[in-house]
Amino acid sequence: MPNFPACAATCPMASFRSSRFDFPVGRIRRVASLPSNGGEEVDETKRNVLKLLAVAGLVGAGAGGLIGGTLQFVQPPTIGISSYPKVQLIDTDGSPLTVAKVESEYNVETSELYLFYYPLENEPNFLLNLYPASGTPNGSNGAENVPYGIGTHQSIVAYSAICQHLGCPAPAIAFYPPGTCPETPGGHTFYIHCSCHGSTYDVTNSAANLTGPAVLPLPQVLLETDAAGNIFANGMRPGSPPVNGHLNTLQGDYGVGATSQLVKETPVILCNFPT
Ligand code: FES
Repeated sequence: MPNFPACAATCPMASFRSSRFDFPVGRIRRVASLPSNGGEEVDETKRNVLKLLAVAGLVGAGAGGLIGGTLQFVQPPTIGISSYPKVQLIDTDGSPLTVAKVESEYNVETSELYLFYYPLENEPNFLLNLYPASGTPNGSNGAENVPYGIGTHQSIVAYSAICQHLGCPAPAIAFYPPGTCPETPGGHTFYIHCSCHGSTYDVTNSAANLTGPAVLPLPQVLLETDAAGNIFANGMRPGSPPVNGHLNTLQGDYGVGATSQLVKETPVILCNFPT
């Protein structure tokens, strides 16, 4: 049994309980006695029929209300979108993000995180350029020609920034540039690491899981460019699992719209791995 490191302060490990599940508790209410009929004779048959009709009406109304009330709790959330949109990425300065800008400003040694939301407003993703600033990669200082990579060296990729174990989001899960920690999971010197419990992912191979406790890869966002080099997100890699916490990647919040702007964050670095 591996020893998991203590969860970082940013881990969203507190148990989640929605107020939608707070069912109202019924109360017993006493009803005052009916007034006397003054001693008149009563047609018992007619009275019983009226009673039956009244009871049937109450039961029907009660059942309808109960079913309706219950259905509102069992219906799955309906917000979401029906298909993957093509979304233009915008740089932190508000200008369109281009391959040229990424290749000149961000590389495998960049220690800050660059995130964008896609396809929903609560689904953050890493934007990474794995090509080293120093030149040709040698396997330990960067990578090129990675699956679904774009750009001059096919080194620009995007992966979900929500861990596939228990859902810790960035910056608790972060990209570790070469030399960040002494550990080299699977022999990799740069990787995505989740500081909550230590899972690692291979950024050179569609974010395949390298070490647990997670077992699934991070979902990979498909990137593409137009003739001017502008970068777009357009779908997910075939075979990618859903974003953690979502029944599928298209359901669970609102779509991001036509554009999505990069957000810069400082990563949580914790060189503590399961043993
Ligand atoms: S949430 Fe547990 S390793 Fe990431």
